[in-house]
Amino acid sequence: MSAKIISGTEVAAQIREELKKEVDALKEKNGVVPGLVTILVGKNPASVSYVTAKQKSAHELGFYSLQDDQPEDISEEALLALVDKYNKDPKIHGILVQLPLPRHINEKKVLNAIDPDKDVDCFHPVNVGRLMIGGSEAKFLPCTPAGIQELIVRSGYETSGAEVVVVGRSNIVGKPIANIMLQKGKGANSTVTIVHTGTKDLEAHCKRADILIVAAGVPGLVKPEWIKPGACVIDVGVNRVGEKISEKTGKPVPVLKGDVDFDAAKEIAGAITPVPGGVGPMTITMLMKNTVTSAKMHAGLPA
Ligand code: GUN
Repeated sequence: MSAKIISGTEVAAQIREELKKEVDALKEKNGVVPGLVTILVGKNPASVSYVTAKQKSAHELGFYSLQDDQPEDISEEALLALVDKYNKDPKIHGILVQLPLPRHINEKKVLNAIDPDKDVDCFHPVNVGRLMIGGSEAKFLPCTPAGIQELIVRSGYETSGAEVVVVGRSNIVGKPIANIMLQKGKGANSTVTIVHTGTKDLEAHCKRADILIVAAGVPGLVKPEWIKPGACVIDVGVNRVGEKISEKTGKPVPVLKGDVDFDAAKEIAGAITPVPGGVGPMTITMLMKNTVTSAKMHAGLPA
């Protein structure tokens, strides 16, 4: 039987609808308007398109949203001063510095300069620590891992006691999603294994997974025979494997492939995310959610 396709596009739209209601109520009852600034250094086309999408989403939700464009040659000192300005701005609850930054700027120094209570990306070491401690300590969850957890929960899979296998140990996806899924609480409480390039028998570990989360960045790495029948498969890979001409615009667009051999895997898995249209659309939505959480926290409201 063919797997249920978990549509990140649909789940993200549903969450944004919920957020819109929350934002409207916050404005009406508490006079609170969530504020988000996205800082873009230079004109990297991929970064421009990501930041534009984030601003569009913030605008649609009724946020106070600012796009701050800075020249490619801005000094590290000036960028740090800009971050500090937004740290002190009471109208701003979320600060996002789009990565990558130009080589002359120390990325870590800039990310560490963001007030952890406005770090809606959840990249600051304080927030990474809070995530590891879990519970009420974890004010924000990093956006892509938070989106993965939402997809699993909303697809109806039981996470408590489930064998979760995470393929990949990146700081942005692998390590945080493993941490999220092992926390004691709703939508987690799983038995978690992280496998990586140093793992001896990837296949054996993947085969045990009730929930398999793949964030390796290797197109088609996970073969159908690695999947336990009925498992929930979350494919985080977004690999550009070529170009095609878009039917809509007539312009070349990248061909994307996940880390899982989707066509074959969907005949074995119980549920699976497509690429594109799976995890991708969730990331920006969870950024919006973190910004609403931050606005509530800053207003002294329960988050
Ligand atoms: N560049 C690509 N993805 C991201 C992201 O999630 N956050 C930031 N700050 N930069 C990015």
